[in-house]
Amino acid sequence: MYLQHLHLINYRNYKNQEIHLNRGINILIGANGQGKTNLLEAVYYLSTGGNFRGNKDLELIQWGQPYFRLVGQMKKEGSDRCYDLEIYLDNEKNKQLKINGVKYKSMSELHNYLRVVLFSPDDLKIIKGSPAERRRYLDVVMCQMDKSYHRLIRDYERIVVQRNNLLKELQYKKQNHNQLAVWNQYLISYGSQIIFKRIQFLKMLVPMARKVQHELTQQAERFTVTYHCSMGAIGDFSVEQIQALFQKIVEQKQEEEIMRGTTLWGPHRDDLIFYLNSMDLKRYGSQGQQRTGILSLKMAELQVFYKCFGEYPLLLLDDVMSELDDSRRQYLIEMVKKNQIQTIITGANIDLISEEIAKDEVFSVFEGKIITK
Ligand SMILES: Nc1ncnc2c1ncn2[C@@H]1O[C@H](COP(=O)(O)OP(=O)(O)OP(=O)(O)O)[C@@H](O)[C@H]1O
Ligand SMILES: [Mg+2]
Repeated sequence: MYLQHLHLINYRNYKNQEIHLNRGINILIGANGQGKTNLLEAVYYLSTGGNFRGNKDLELIQWGQPYFRLVGQMKKEGSDRCYDLEIYLDNEKNKQLKINGVKYKSMSELHNYLRVVLFSPDDLKIIKGSPAERRRYLDVVMCQMDKSYHRLIRDYERIVVQRNNLLKELQYKKQNHNQLAVWNQYLISYGSQIIFKRIQFLKMLVPMARKVQHELTQQAERFTVTYHCSMGAIGDFSVEQIQALFQKIVEQKQEEEIMRGTTLWGPHRDDLIFYLNSMDLKRYGSQGQQRTGILSLKMAELQVFYKCFGEYPLLLLDDVMSELDDSRRQYLIEMVKKNQIQTIITGANIDLISEEIAKDEVFSVFEGKIITK
């Protein structure tokens, strides 16, 4: 897929900016605080309907303005048909999505159109951060791939909230056990499907990440990611087997959950563990090893998208080139060029990106304005 044109109105520090994007590599150069990440964020927003820096939607509206509007024009592989994606948000929190002029209620509709893989220095937290960061990583990627997963996650979160309320009530009211049995069944059914889907996804992602890591390190490093299930080892379990285990845990631990007033087992408590040659990368890996692990993961994401949809997503590289060594930078650029992946790269200085790609489309970003060189 390919985003050919982007129009930002009152979005962050962009007042009214249009940009024609190159089908291959696009480089955004500018000093700190000029609007490079804001532009990537806008592309990401058009892909997911959400923000990757954790800002509230209203913070994206230009200060003092009543609304923002983002319009992107994209094409899919092998077709000349153009799709117009438009998101509007105002100060009253009215948020509207239109695709080719037709309104859609759910932002998840966007997942059928523009798909992106984002790689930013912040991604190190996938390895270094809390389990919640890793679950979030998994969920964001998987929601782009699978609409039913998106619904499962949304419903599961509601189930956990309701069940937690009930567990707290049960601390002083004993008569609601029948109601708890109903919530238990929802929890087990939705939770087991989530765990199963996550494991299936990792089965695609991890071998690809391992292959990239091998190539990046001349076969020296073996990279693995395992799923750590809070309920115990689940290996190659089917959904039914996960359900049976979940059922057993819920029955055995009911009193403990009531006492604590919260749901203690389920996919909302699970984690990912990254290994390099059987060393726990979070605990023992160097910064460079952790960064290489993330690079392998991101490259693998591109391949998984390709496998699932027959086309590569857009690759957004925010300030990462200067942090990679020459061979890793080379690998990344070769991969992008070989597979003709549309890529937007930001950096403070062209020398820090790669001289080799300097002949591609370069844009200067200055105080919320983009100038084609
Ligand atoms: N809602 C908003 N309205 C207007 N300006 C905003 C808004 N939110 C952020 N900004 C401005 O956007 C600028 C930050 O832009 P951005 O994060 O894209 O910078 P950058 O070019 O990526 O810089 P760096 O190289 O430091 O990462 C800041 O100057 C900030 O004041
Ligand atoms: Mg930035």
